[in-house]
Amino acid sequence: MIFVDACFGKKTAHTPVWMMRQAGRYLPEYMKVRTEVGDFLSLCRNPPKACEVTLQPIDILGVDAAILFSDILVIPMEMGMELKFIKGEGPLFPTPIKTQEDIDALTVEKAAEKLDYVYETIKLIRKELDPEIALIGFCGSPWTLATYMIEGQGTKTYAKVKKEIYTNPAKMHSLLRKVTDTLKIYMSNQIESGADVVMLFDSWAAALEEDIYFEFSWDYMKEISAFLKAKYPHIPVIMFPKGISAFLDRIDGDFDVFGVDWSTPIELAKEKLGDRYVLQGNMEPTRLYSKDAIKEGVEKIVKVMKNERHIFNLGHGILPDVPVENAKYFIKTVQEQTKI
Ligand code: CP3
Repeated sequence: MIFVDACFGKKTAHTPVWMMRQAGRYLPEYMKVRTEVGDFLSLCRNPPKACEVTLQPIDILGVDAAILFSDILVIPMEMGMELKFIKGEGPLFPTPIKTQEDIDALTVEKAAEKLDYVYETIKLIRKELDPEIALIGFCGSPWTLATYMIEGQGTKTYAKVKKEIYTNPAKMHSLLRKVTDTLKIYMSNQIESGADVVMLFDSWAAALEEDIYFEFSWDYMKEISAFLKAKYPHIPVIMFPKGISAFLDRIDGDFDVFGVDWSTPIELAKEKLGDRYVLQGNMEPTRLYSKDAIKEGVEKIVKVMKNERHIFNLGHGILPDVPVENAKYFIKTVQEQTKI
């Protein structure tokens, strides 16, 4: 598989390329399936339909990897929290975590078991997908998930969750411990079901100051990756802590690929981490609105990475109103420009 080879730093015929959120609302084919099924969470819980939308970007855009269609928030949901997706507003946990008793009530093994619809989806995708194309499984980082669990929704200030860190660190660690333990089982199950690569999304990494970031987020992510690498050395692990370019000197751990977000200069990531990790990223997603901006963005990154130890991607998810034609142009441009 070209994508797995690239994750391990091997030379490939071209630099593999995919996009975060590649299965989603910018595709009319996705909207059709979502409307048929009803809502987003029902789609996540419907293995044949989740499999269908996972495969859409492979057929439509020709990307070099598939990513499981699901969401990071199914973990807190199956640990016992009610989850709603409000149209136009994003995810909502109506009863967020407040007390130690709320944390104690969350399940670990049972949550991982209840996620059988995800494992079923992975098995179906692996059956249908071209054997040369890798399937990426994923989860959110313990810190990013804990943020949603305590804030109840997206936040600008992170006041509630950060208040827990500074006023009650032991309680915060007990929540992160439970989420970490669940994720270890969940990611193992994804791999056993057929995921060829796994990726950890730390979307809210940039909310924390340096030492606190390492104590409350990175150390837990590292624990999960070390656990997975010891158990499944042949499965590449991708880490994506978004927005922490100031802390690159302190990044370490047993994983294979470092996901570079669009705000981090790729030259800087290469200088600090390029010898130790393959880099993934990092075109600014808004460039997808203009073909000229796409061409320029791809050229700039190719010039730095030189088709070595690199996986092409956006530096965060594709936006819902990007023209499909431009997304196709991005994929084609990367594949042509990096061909050896
Ligand atoms: O194509 C893929 O990348 C695979 C599927 C995937 C989704 N969410 C589908 C989705 C993945 C990998 C995610 C990860 C995810 N989910 C993250 C981490 C990555 C990141 O973006 O930083 C986060 C923070 C979430 C939480 C989440 N899910 C939010 C904030 C939202 C609402 C915002 C939005 O874009 O509407 C979702 C919903 C969601 N997850 C959609 C999709 C396709 C949109 C649902 C819809 O209306 O159909």
